[in-house]
Amino acid sequence: MTSLGVMQMFRPVMRSMVMTSSPQKIAMARMMSTGQYEFIKTDTTGTEGRVGLVTLNRPKALNALCAGLMDELIRALNDFDNDPTVGAIVVTGSEKAFAAGADIKEMQNRDFQSNYKENFLEWWSNITLVRKPIIAAVNGYALGGGCEIAMMCDIIYAGDKARFGQPEITIGTIPGAGGTQRLTRAIGKSRAMEMNLTGVPITAEEASQWGLVSRIFPAASLVEEAVKSADKIASHSKIITQICKESTNAAYELSLREGMRFEKRMFQSTFATNDRKEGMTAFVEKRKPNWTDN
Ligand code: CAA
Repeated sequence: MTSLGVMQMFRPVMRSMVMTSSPQKIAMARMMSTGQYEFIKTDTTGTEGRVGLVTLNRPKALNALCAGLMDELIRALNDFDNDPTVGAIVVTGSEKAFAAGADIKEMQNRDFQSNYKENFLEWWSNITLVRKPIIAAVNGYALGGGCEIAMMCDIIYAGDKARFGQPEITIGTIPGAGGTQRLTRAIGKSRAMEMNLTGVPITAEEASQWGLVSRIFPAASLVEEAVKSADKIASHSKIITQICKESTNAAYELSLREGMRFEKRMFQSTFATNDRKEGMTAFVEKRKPNWTDN
């Protein structure tokens, strides 16, 4: 069985231990949930643990995205995606670095043939298959693959000292995980060209003005603010939240006419859920909704 399979087997056990039992069992469950990774830490936080928190934790290499780290990140995101008690996810790094890019030492001796045969870096796109909303909370460097991972998330918040950049050009290559595509859609051609062709990073302030990030917070309170926002998202119906994410993401892929058609069908389909009925009934009855479509 794969390690992912093993983790999925254990997760419900850990959850029931947390919900029903003694401090020792809770501590043991926490240890199990954080001790299974080498390059990241995971936790649940927010109201009743409904926010999944992933912290990239490879400080000596400024969270450079080696294969092991990416494997763990994708496994943790999948794990939270499959956890019915989690409604939203926050991904963060350290105050110095969200991530300084793909691991250059790991890539140094790769060749075209193996890149092509293995479709190198394509597996990073698994992050975009996660159906629950993900907030990237970026402090410090988000360079190359670091900036690209943040752009695969749904919302980016920046600490006031954050730096976003695509410096691949300075090491003789180009962005390979969205820097020429998602960045261009996010900030427009001239600014993306400037970042990709000069390799010079931009500040949090510039990233905010250019629309790459939606908010800036003081570095020390960034994660807390991101969790607060994720907690708000997780307070809504999970199925409707996911439909909303899917529909918003379609704006990147479809023409306006097709996108509007998709949105309309998704909107109409929300009327097949219990939560849509409950949400509107709760409004009319002036009470809080009780979501059941988990
Ligand atoms: N890969 C591997 N190791 C890295 C790394 C990376 N991307 N970034 C930093 N490190 C390592 C350094 O080699 C160093 O390790 P040692 O102590 O063993 O020498 C350690 O992290 C600390 O780094 P620095 O001493 O360089 O720290 P600094 O504060 O002086 O500089 C920095 C910080 C400006 C971020 C600098 O480390 C840097 O420029 N890093 C590389 C950034 C980069 O080019 N990223 C793009 C990678 S390619 C890519 O991502 C392709 C893609 O599209 C997916």
